Order: sequence, then structure tokens, then C-alpha cells
Amino acid sequence: MELFKNMADFTAAADGGYLIDVMQKYKQAKFIYQCHKSNILQFLTTEPQSSEDIAEKAGVISERLVVVLDALTSIGLVEKENDKYSLSAISEAYLFCESPFYIGDLIELNMSDEEKCGGEMVNSWLHGNSVSREHDPQTTFSQSFVRAMAQGVLIDNSVRKTAELLCAHPCFDTAKNLLDVGGGHGLFAIAIKKLKPNISATVFDLPQNEAVAKEYGVRCGEEVAFFPGNFYVDELPPNQDVVLCFDILHPVAVSQKESVFAKAYRALNEGGHLFYKLWFLNEERTAPSRASLMAVKCKIGNGNSHVITLNEAKEMLLGQGFGIEDILSLGDGESQIIVAVKK
Ligand SMILES: C[S@@+](CC[C@H](N)C(=O)[O-])C[C@H]1O[C@@H](n2cnc3c(N)ncnc32)[C@H](O)[C@@H]1O
Repeated sequence: MELFKNMADFTAAADGGYLIDVMQKYKQAKFIYQCHKSNILQFLTTEPQSSEDIAEKAGVISERLVVVLDALTSIGLVEKENDKYSLSAISEAYLFCESPFYIGDLIELNMSDEEKCGGEMVNSWLHGNSVSREHDPQTTFSQSFVRAMAQGVLIDNSVRKTAELLCAHPCFDTAKNLLDVGGGHGLFAIAIKKLKPNISATVFDLPQNEAVAKEYGVRCGEEVAFFPGNFYVDELPPNQDVVLCFDILHPVAVSQKESVFAKAYRALNEGGHLFYKLWFLNEERTAPSRASLMAVKCKIGNGNSHVITLNEAKEMLLGQGFGIEDILSLGDGESQIIVAVKK
């Protein structure tokens, strides 16, 4: 059934902000529970201390602690200044066990037995127990995962906003071929095709996700091609005028990200444009909170992973031969798009 016929159909009748907020807060609550179980906040004071000093007192691995402290900073429970960390007022009042307002038992009470199951993960990781394993795209990016991604970009209206923002770029006046790398569900390519019907759009993704892209193609009444492959292994199809890299490569090391952008560079025609969209971390690595929390999750899963800052991303693209043309914002305070050009 054709559900997304016109651009306006990509905007739901009700604002999904409330649900997005609840889901984010749920993730934050689980993270706070895990940090509570690790006792890490008990080793902080209102006086700023280096992560090395805190790690020594707590008997944990300093490089891992930094990632956790940055994430705690991102949700206001720790303060970070000049690479030193201290308790925020809210943590001092409620999460520091010597405070008369300490809520440790209340936190326990609010967690179900199932939620308590994974509660030791951060603690165990901080102490050096590694659950780290090589990132496996085949098992991580199931069809359900990719459908979840589609639902995530529909609920925050970013399909429509992104497509409209991109198509206002002059390169879309002449672009013939577009490749959406890790395009999964295909919604961005589909929405762009609705605005620029003459463009030939292809989604590059793992073979298992072709069915999801086809499903959304039917729902949108818009055909986009699907090129199955693994971008860590395979070359990308050449002769592209526009390459999209949206929300990909979080769980891997910088060297692996570089190899994919080298492929994107080769796939582009001279003067072609790359649009790299992500919740880039700030320089302090403490915002946006979604990216800081993602950095913890990725590091626990794969010790080599690196959630990237905007400046690191720009440097990486310059290193691959791209010129940086612009930084676009979706206006949600989180997503940014680097516009890079093949010189
Ligand atoms: C986080 S989702 C982002 C999907 C979409 N670009 C968006 O912004 O909503 C990551 C996408 O990259 C794809 N992907 C991950 N690793 C891949 C690989 N090695 N080769 C091809 N596609 C991959 C996944 O299947 C998934 O569709």
C-alpha cells in the first residue's frame, strides 16, 4: 500500500518528540543505573580531578573511565573542565552516598529484575573485563534493526527535512547518479527521488536488507536500486555525482572509517559531493548526549570503535582528498551534515 506518496506524507500528524524523549530518558536511566552499580561517582568530589587520579582511586582503567565520565557529563551528572571532572550539583545532592538526600535505594527500586541483569556491565568493563569482540555487520544490522532506523528517521521527521535541505544544494541541479552508502531502508534516497525525479538513486547495503528497502519502495511508490555488498570488503559502484553516508561507521575504528571514505572518494566523479550526516561529538566529547552514550556502548562492544567529533571527521575527509565545502544543520541540535567535494 502506498503510504508515503508526497513529501508531506513523511511528516506524521502528531509530533513524535515526546516518544523520542521517553526512549532517550529510558536509555539514560539504564546508564545511570549501571554507573550507580559501578560506584564510580563515589570517587568524584566537587573539586575537579583528572581521570587518571579518579581511575587510580577507583581501581579502574583510566582510558575506559574517560568515556564513561564524558557520557555522565553529557547528561549533567558530572562536570568537565580542562579535562578534569567533578560532581555536578545534582550528583552531589542525590547520587553521592554521603549526602542526606542519596537515592541509591530508590534507583534500585525503580529497576525491574530483568533490567538489573545487565547492571554490572559498565562496572565490569571499567575493571578490565572485556566483552570486546570484532564488530560483525551481518549480525548487528538485522532487518529489524534497519526497520528501527527507518522508524527513527520518520518519527523525528528527518527524512523530509534532510531531503529538502540536501536538494536545495546546487549540486542536485545537475546530479544524475546518487549512492546512499549504508542506506538500509532507502527512505532518504526515496525522498530525494520524489524531489528530483530524474536522479538515479541506489542504496548500497548488506544483502539481507534488500527486502526492507524494497518494502519501503512499495510503501512510497518509488523505485530505488539496491546494490548488495559489505563496504568494509567491497568497492562501491562508481560514476556517482552524490554519495550519502548517513549514520554509519559508529562501531568501528577510525582506520576502518577511512577505508570506506576512500571508497566513497573513488566512487565519486570529479567535482562530486559527499554528504556525511551524523550526531558528531563536540570537541569535549560531551555532547550531544546520544553520541556520548553511544560512545560508551560502542567501546564496550568493540574496544577499537571510535565515535567521532566533527573536527576529527573533517580531518579524516581532508586526509582522503576531499575538500570541505560546508556544514549543514538539521536544526535538532544534534545532527550535522558535512558537505565535502571530490577535488
Ligand atoms: C545506523 S543504520 C543507518 C541507516 C540509514 N543510513 C539512516 O541514516 O537511517 C546503518 C546502516 O548501515 C548498514 N551497514 C552497516 N555495516 C555495513 C556494511 N559493512 N556494508 C554495508 N552496509 C552496512 C546497515 O545495514 C544499516 O542499514
